[in-house]
Amino acid sequence: MTITTDFTGKTVIVVGGTSGINRGIAETFARSGARVAVASRSQEKVDDTVTALTEAGAETAMGVAFDVRDADAVAKGLQQMHEALGDFDILISGAAGNFPALMAEMSVNAFRTVVEIDLMGTVHLMKAAYPLLKRPGASVISISAPQAFLPYEGQAHVCAAKAGVDMITRTLALEWSPEGIRINSVVPGYIADTEGARRLAPTEQALEMVRRNIPQGRLGAVQDVANSCLWLASDLADHVTGQVISVDGGLYQRGSGQLGQMIGQMLRSKSGG
Ligand code: HXC
Ligand code: NAP
Repeated sequence: MTITTDFTGKTVIVVGGTSGINRGIAETFARSGARVAVASRSQEKVDDTVTALTEAGAETAMGVAFDVRDADAVAKGLQQMHEALGDFDILISGAAGNFPALMAEMSVNAFRTVVEIDLMGTVHLMKAAYPLLKRPGASVISISAPQAFLPYEGQAHVCAAKAGVDMITRTLALEWSPEGIRINSVVPGYIADTEGARRLAPTEQALEMVRRNIPQGRLGAVQDVANSCLWLASDLADHVTGQVISVDGGLYQRGSGQLGQMIGQMLRSKSGG
C-alpha cells in the first residue's frame, strides 16, 4: 500500500524543530510540500535547519531564534512567522530540556528549569499561537514523554512537567474543539540517535537493556514519530482530539519497570551511593 501525503499550501510551525525528533518532523512536512517555520534558541541551528528544509522541498522555509521560557519572545517570534506564512494549520510544540538528577541532589533551580522549558514553554506557545491558528482546521501536537504517566527515578522534574503538558492537551481539546481546533500529544518511545535517548541511556549496555524491553525488539526511528504527526495533522485524524498517543513499539505497556530504576541506579553508582 502506498500512502501519499500532500501538505502543499499548509503552514507548519515546529517549535524546538532544529534537532532530533522535532527536526525530523519539520523535514517530513517539508518533503510533503508544506510551508515550514522552525524555532529554537540557537540562531545557527535555526539557519542550518532552514537550509535543510528548503533542500527537502518546502514551499517556503523560515526560522526564528527564541527561548520558549520568554513569553514575549515567543509571541514576537510567532507573529513574525504569521506575517510570513499566514494562519497556522499545524503547530508542533517540541522544545524540551532533560538531565538525569535525583530530587535530593538537584537544586530548586534545576527542577524549575525543566518546568520552565517543558511546561511553561508549552503555556507560552499555546497562548501566543491561539489567535494565529487556522479555524476551523488547525491541528496542534505537543511532543510529550512517557515521564508524563510513568515514574522514572532521576526524572521527577521531567515527570512533573510533561504530566502538565498532557493535561494541557486534554483541557484545550475541550476548550478549542468548538472552534474546529484539534490538539493531541505524541509520546515517542526510545528514539535512536537522539539527544534524549543519549541522556537517559548513555552507555551501550543501557541502550541494550532498553532494546530488550521493547516488545517490537527495536528502538524507534525519528521517522516513526514524524509519520504519526503526518497522520494527526491530516484529515484522516479529523475526529481525534485530546489524545495522548505513544509511538513506542509497545514499550510503555510494560510500565517503567527496569527502565524506571536504571537512571536512579546510574546516578547512585556515580555518586558512590
Ligand atoms: C543536575 C543540573 C544538570 C544536571 C543542569 N543542571 N544540568 N543539575 N544535574 N545534569 C542545573 C544547573 O546546575 C542549574 O541549576 C539549572 O539546572 C539550569 O542549568 P543551566 O545550564 O543554566 O540551564 P540552561 O543553559 O538553560 O540549559 C537547560 C538544560 C540543558 C535543560 C539544563 O540541558 C539544555 O539546554 N537542554 C536542551 C536539550 C535537551 O535536554 N534535550 C533532551 C530532551 S529529551 P543551579 O542551581 O546551578 O543554578 C526529553 C525526554 C527524553 O525531554 C525521554 C526519553 C525516553
Ligand atoms: P533534542 O534534539 O535536544 O531537541 C530539543 C529541541 O528543543 C532542540 O531543537 C533545541 O534547540 C530546542 N530547545 C531546547 N530548549 C529550548 C528552549 N528553552 N527554547 C527553545 N527551544 C529549545 O531532543 P530530542 O531527543 O529529539 O527530543 C525532542 C522531543 O521529544 C522532546 O520534547 C522530548 O521530550 C521528546 N522525547 C524524546 C525521546 C527520545 O528518545 N529522544 C523520548 C520521549 C520524548 P536549541 O538547543 O537551539 O534551543
